[in-house]
Amino acid sequence: TKRVAIFLSGGGSNMVALAQSMQGDHPAKPVLALSNDAQAGGLQKAAAMGIATAAVDHRPFGDNREAFEAELCKVLDSYRPDIVCLAGFMRVLTPYFIDVYAGRMLNIHPSLLPKYKGLHTHQRALDAGDVVHGCTVHEVTAALDDGPILGQAKVDVAANDTAQTLAAKVLVQEHALYPQVLRRFAQGDKTPLRLGF
Ligand code: GAR
Repeated sequence: TKRVAIFLSGGGSNMVALAQSMQGDHPAKPVLALSNDAQAGGLQKAAAMGIATAAVDHRPFGDNREAFEAELCKVLDSYRPDIVCLAGFMRVLTPYFIDVYAGRMLNIHPSLLPKYKGLHTHQRALDAGDVVHGCTVHEVTAALDDGPILGQAKVDVAANDTAQTLAAKVLVQEHALYPQVLRRFAQGDKTPLRLGF
């Protein structure tokens, strides 16, 4: 059974979807939910699900990302994760950390990559007049929101969608996509999954 650490910064709905999926004959299990914010709602949800939690505040480290990441590594070491899932983790990681988990770290991003790397993806899709939007799970490499795509789910944009309504629709698809991709990845299957196309 692969040991999975899940990183989050906010409400943690993707963490919940991932953790709930890892049951029964699943090839993986959640061993840690970690946040850069001790107040993140996702940590309480993880604890309520019986998952170990940890918080590493990035703020005391200022601009020293490597010192923050060294602390992340220190915490992770005791949980020996085979796979790290970034699930709404809003800190950019550097190669210092990424190299340690190269090939075993996934991220979910709320756009159809390679479109709209970075923030404000829903507003940018609306501003561009896109009629199709969605989310992507990819392997994490040193370049931001880059790396091999493991799965994408499509969402149709309605004429009256706002960034908020679109985000809600995409989030539903994130909860469907990420667990399926994780299961396949834990079994060694890296062929891209496409949902709703
Ligand atoms: C999700 O929509 C996720 O795709 C996005 O943050 C949200 C977290 O929600 N991630 C990013 O924007 C990464 N740059 P959650 O905490 O409820 O899972």
